[in-house]
Amino acid sequence: MSVVQLEDVTKRYRNGDGWSNALSAVNLSVERGSIQGIIGFSGAGKSTLLRCVSRLEKPDEGRVLIDGADLASATGRDLRSARRKLGVVFQQFHLMRSRTVADNIALPLEIAGERPMHIHSRVQDLLGYVGLQDKQHVYPAQLSGGQRQRVAIARALATKPAVLLTDEPTSALDPETTASVLDLLKRVRDELGVTILLITHELNAVRAICDYVAVLDSGCIVEQGPVEQVFTRPMSRATERLLGKDLHLSQLATHLGKPSDHPDSVFLEIHFFGADATDHILFDVARSTDATFSILHAQIVNLNRLGHGSMLVEVSGTVSALATVQDRLRARGANVVIVEPWQNAPFTVSGHA
Ligand SMILES: Nc1ncnc2c1ncn2[C@@H]1O[C@H](COP(=O)(O)OP(=O)(O)O)[C@@H](O)[C@H]1O
Ligand SMILES: [Mg+2]
Repeated sequence: MSVVQLEDVTKRYRNGDGWSNALSAVNLSVERGSIQGIIGFSGAGKSTLLRCVSRLEKPDEGRVLIDGADLASATGRDLRSARRKLGVVFQQFHLMRSRTVADNIALPLEIAGERPMHIHSRVQDLLGYVGLQDKQHVYPAQLSGGQRQRVAIARALATKPAVLLTDEPTSALDPETTASVLDLLKRVRDELGVTILLITHELNAVRAICDYVAVLDSGCIVEQGPVEQVFTRPMSRATERLLGKDLHLSQLATHLGKPSDHPDSVFLEIHFFGADATDHILFDVARSTDATFSILHAQIVNLNRLGHGSMLVEVSGTVSALATVQDRLRARGANVVIVEPWQNAPFTVSGHA
């Protein structure tokens, strides 16, 4: 049974005179013991989803099942006991400035009415677990961002939740600190068996630790599945845009402007995966058609253990040659996106940059 299940969850907010949907009939099953990523552009509804799962907000419609119990309609004691199964971590840590590190971690245990002896030993265990024993008497202001997030994670784990909900937990951190916080989250899953919902706009965080990912776009889940599948064979435009944005290809194309020297040329964003990432597919295809290619940008990144090669290429030729190029690339397993930067370029460009 999935530990978190969302069934047709809808949340509306007042928007001027009317209402708009921040979430529209969202369905999601989070497998116990997995790390489930939720990605999407800013404004997609990610934080709203987290607030509905944690019942910081009540969905307008639908059910949120935690271990089979509906949190969306729970009240009183049922709500409190269901909430105890959830720990929440935010981007901005939300630590209490007037409390020491140890007292911040102790807070949920105090609220739960635990005995002082028990609180003390639990806090010591958690400090050890997140590697902050030597900082227990200092205040949050004296800590680095990464250390603060470790405190927030320890606090969220204090009541031994089954699920950790994290909203952009690494987005305020530098890359090195991000890696160590992601490692900690992975340990929390591997060693403590806690299921994790990782909400982020950082694809690298998803690549690093998630098993599954769901893509949220304008309040709808447009795609979900194992990370390798979604990232290597994206089925939705939103995922393609996220992958492209991650690689800065569309911005690059925007700066280059319309390839107007060649009325019959296009910018193609081409993604290769797996062993193919280092293959010579592009050259094979170039040799077998009449189109001319110019590579504007190319890079290879790691996706789990797979290579992910991406290129921005200007291809010129007849309409039929351009179609053949795309067909042949796709037949070789590449994901091909036509970039049309001039349609939404912030400035008018004549000719090449
Ligand atoms: N409290 C609120 N009142 C009104 N509109 C909101 C509120 N919270 C979020 N929204 C709107 O809902 C949409 C989704 O927001 P949010 O969940 O914060 O997105 P994300 O976390 O993906 O950036 C946005 O259009 C946002 O403006
Ligand atoms: Mg957000």
